[in-house]
Amino acid sequence: MIETVNLTKKFGDLTAVDGVTLRVEEGEVFGFLGPNGAGKTTTVRMLCCLISKTSGTAKIPGYEVGNDEDSLKIRKIIGLVPDSVGLYDDLTAYDNLDFYGKLYRCTETQRRENIQRFLKMLGLWEKKDVAAGAFSKGMKQKLAIARALIHEPEVLFLDEPTVNLDPES
Ligand SMILES: Nc1ncnc2c1ncn2[C@@H]1O[C@H](COP(=O)(O)OP(=O)(O)O)[C@@H](O)[C@H]1O
Ligand SMILES: [Mg+2]
Repeated sequence: MIETVNLTKKFGDLTAVDGVTLRVEEGEVFGFLGPNGAGKTTTVRMLCCLISKTSGTAKIPGYEVGNDEDSLKIRKIIGLVPDSVGLYDDLTAYDNLDFYGKLYRCTETQRRENIQRFLKMLGLWEKKDVAAGAFSKGMKQKLAIARALIHEPEVLFLDEPTVNLDPES
């Protein structure tokens, strides 16, 4: 499902990701651990086509990371919970998800059903009409998780997903 060979990213003289080779199978939950600054976020950002790679290869079900045409296809089938949530503070929880659902070209039915499904799953349904800016950090993190799921992605990337969450969550 995900396959990288010698994936490398340099920022000037700094090698942030140094020849990562990994394989993640369909249905697998793959934990990617390392100390701060190890290059985890940079790897995720390359796989999500948010930044370019310096060398090596990466494939996400058949698509090639770094190929412009494939980048769009990859973005359609992945979801990302980034390390900083970046929601629209002025929009309600519901409208945040609806907005991102529209960007992903979800149908109205898919948006309505999935927003309800994921907000209920994360215990935020009662807060659906509250502006995201008024959410606690943990609630924002949950909203970012719902956002990453709204278009039912085949591959889900979670960068430090437990940050700010209570132990039960
Ligand atoms: N945009 C950038 N420009 C320059 N250096 C960066 C940039 N992003 C990350 N780095 C550097 O790359 C290294 C890996 O960072 P990162 O991937 O964020 O680590 P992790 O997520 O494992 O904590 C760090 O040394 C960091 O300072
Ligand atoms: Mg990181």
